[in-house]
Amino acid sequence: MTKPIGIFDSGLGGLTVARAIAGAVPAENLVYLGDTARVPYGTRSAKTVVRYAIACAERLLSFDIKLLVVACNTASGVALGELQDRLDIPVIGVIQPGARAGVKATRTGRIGILATAGTVASGAYERAIQAENQAMNVFARSAPLFVPLAEEGWVTGEVPRLAARRYLQPLVEVDVDTIVLGCTHYPLLSETIHEVAAELLGHDVTIVDSAEATAAALTSMLDLPATPDQTAGALEILVTDLPGQFGAAASRFLGKAVGALDIQVIDL
Ligand code: DGL
Repeated sequence: MTKPIGIFDSGLGGLTVARAIAGAVPAENLVYLGDTARVPYGTRSAKTVVRYAIACAERLLSFDIKLLVVACNTASGVALGELQDRLDIPVIGVIQPGARAGVKATRTGRIGILATAGTVASGAYERAIQAENQAMNVFARSAPLFVPLAEEGWVTGEVPRLAARRYLQPLVEVDVDTIVLGCTHYPLLSETIHEVAAELLGHDVTIVDSAEATAAALTSMLDLPATPDQTAGALEILVTDLPGQFGAAASRFLGKAVGALDIQVIDL
């Protein structure tokens, strides 16, 4: 039996990362922990997010995971180094893969980042992009209303378009050609963000999904067996609270139906 990959996030949004990973390495077993009792992380101090991230990681270690993916951008921004120091297994975050994909995609060297306030304050995307290529210009902006809009499933139409116009304006003023979605929730709004950005900029823009970039980075780290284990490919979902509407929201992020019976509630 192959050891599972552990994935954690502040809540349900990280299921976008689990979905991308399941698509990239379908024969791997995944254990996903969503800290739904303490979401959001994006508005909290770095110190608090580091504490929460350590608790999530330690719980996942009890599942004998072989590798940990920090699916939450905010936790990746402030806690990745601490987790890598503490754990004996490889730990990857979503920021470095997203940053690298952004650098690869840009033609003008002007990259916009949309993320939570905590991720923007951490400066982690700027550091990761500059580490790839010092000549890049990076403009990071927070887009907090995208989180509840994605949770509500309100991802197209007038309201998300209005929010997108407001959040994209500063990136339009500096004429970015690439926008990295630096938050677990934003891939659900990708179409709206893409459309509104292209309208405001007057030219097309490349949208980079850090969830997809992370799944691709993870694939290159794994020793994939020549003959995959046909019995593997399970996704176990753990949460620290089971709010109403959980199933509907989880299904939206995962892209397939999730019932209450598929989920285990734990205490940290
Ligand atoms: N998971 C968070 C992130 O990717 C978004 C939601 C939150 O603020 O906790 O930054």
